[in-house]
Amino acid sequence: MTAQDTAPPLLTPDRLDEVEGWFFDADRFVFGWLLERQRELGTRGDLLELGVYKGKSAIVIGYHAAEGERFTVCDLFDAGEAPDESTATEMRVYYPTLTRQVFEANYLRFHRRLPTVVQGSSAGITGHVGAGSCRFVHVDASHLYHHVRADIAAAREVLIEDGVIALDDFRSPHTPGVAAATWEAVLTTGLKPVVLTESKLYGTWGRADALRDALAERLATHAALWGVTEDVAGHTLLRVHSR
Ligand SMILES: C[S@@+](CC[C@H](N)C(=O)[O-])C[C@H]1O[C@@H](n2cnc3c(N)ncnc32)[C@H](O)[C@@H]1O
Repeated sequence: MTAQDTAPPLLTPDRLDEVEGWFFDADRFVFGWLLERQRELGTRGDLLELGVYKGKSAIVIGYHAAEGERFTVCDLFDAGEAPDESTATEMRVYYPTLTRQVFEANYLRFHRRLPTVVQGSSAGITGHVGAGSCRFVHVDASHLYHHVRADIAAAREVLIEDGVIALDDFRSPHTPGVAAATWEAVLTTGLKPVVLTESKLYGTWGRADALRDALAERLATHAALWGVTEDVAGHTLLRVHSR
């Protein structure tokens, strides 16, 4: 008998709502669609999430790491690890019940193995993830402008040419710093916004048109979501809405 035979059965993805967090249906769909499309096109690369909280979005990303691809997550997990007082305050207000143990226990209810866990500020992530190594980066850590700006710069460094960045909370009322950093990246670094949901902006520094058009085509037959394109600051982006 192997350890695998005696391990408790894993939960199926439809039980994800048992994990506390902020990861909504439209984004679950877009994450899955994007990551599968990359695989179908033969795009290989590692996966990275900055800001995991209790694991809700990380559990979904973990399903898409192919053999030989590394999935890395980074989180402070504890106010004591915060790089500055504003971040420590944000941790105490928004994430008082978070611990690394809770994240790991949640993740292991859905997957047999943990991703590579980096405990600490996302400011140090390029010391753990190589330049040009990732096909997908989810930025969902600090909401403070200077940190998000640095996270976007790090994402740009670690992404491959047609890699995709997903930026959470780019327009929530309580996160103006994320909005400022996101649109600054669009206007000054060449980030192309491709898809917008209620919560996230998806973009690339690579080729945007084929990605956007393929998702628009898929949404035309989606039961719960629909998309409409809009031109913004020289970019044609796809807004995704619930039916
Ligand atoms: C909004 S939550 C992440 C939500 C998660 N992705 C989900 O799907 O539920 C933000 C997380 O970022 C972490 N965080 C905040 N500032 C950070 C920083 N500077 N570096 C790393 N992690 C940070 C917090 O500890 C928290 O777990």
